[in-house]
Amino acid sequence: MRKKIVAGNWKMNKTLSEAKALVAEVMGMISSEVKANTQVVLCVPFPYLVPIKNQLGNSSVITGAQNCSEHDWGAYTGEVSALMLKSMEVPYVILGHSERRQYFGEDGTLLATKVNKALAAERTPIFCCGEALEIREAGTHEKLVKQQVEEALFYLSADDLKKVVIAYEPVWAIGTGKTATAQQAQEMHAVIRKQLASKYGEAVANEISILYGGSVNAKNAAELFACPDVDGGLVGGASLKSREFVDVVKAMK
Ligand code: PGA
Repeated sequence: MRKKIVAGNWKMNKTLSEAKALVAEVMGMISSEVKANTQVVLCVPFPYLVPIKNQLGNSSVITGAQNCSEHDWGAYTGEVSALMLKSMEVPYVILGHSERRQYFGEDGTLLATKVNKALAAERTPIFCCGEALEIREAGTHEKLVKQQVEEALFYLSADDLKKVVIAYEPVWAIGTGKTATAQQAQEMHAVIRKQLASKYGEAVANEISILYGGSVNAKNAAELFACPDVDGGLVGGASLKSREFVDVVKAMK
């Protein structure tokens, strides 16, 4: 059975003390609520990974980074490599978030390299794809998302693909309060899974967790997570509030 995952994407938010306070609150509320088959991941800013990992201790909540370099080591000022994440025992890394694509010019070729680096360092990439509003309005969203998936992932072997988590995040739904309907989410998740099946076979496609992201909150999470091809969420704004985030986690059945 594929894994159910709720990952909080904190983006560039919180001071260290605020971050610790948020984690303490989440920990206080979540323990009895984390289902055996739901992995809860906190994707926090790089400098907070180690302190928060220490704070989480042996709990079932684990850490993720929000990006990694396409290089292993060297003169790349300001960068953090997948091997560094490995050395810090940070298991997950978000790659190809639309904000990275938009503000930092990340494209399919670069993301293929980053995915490869993450897998080589035995980290789990949460690979993001999703269309902007004008693409959705033009009706070419399926084509665009399939292209994003193909460019960044289709060079992988089936065994490696199985180690990747995909997050479908329509850009028009990120941070806008405008969520895709459950039907829109399910449609796109099914498109992605079918695409994976056509290249890797159905058995492999059925093992890949596909998360939905874009204004997931405590009110809409249950309906989204109930869709057969939605295996969890990548949660931005709602992950910055302890009660809201825990309620999103609880919405996973
Ligand atoms: P949001 O962000 O939940 O605030 O829309 C999601 C994301 O960017 O991953």
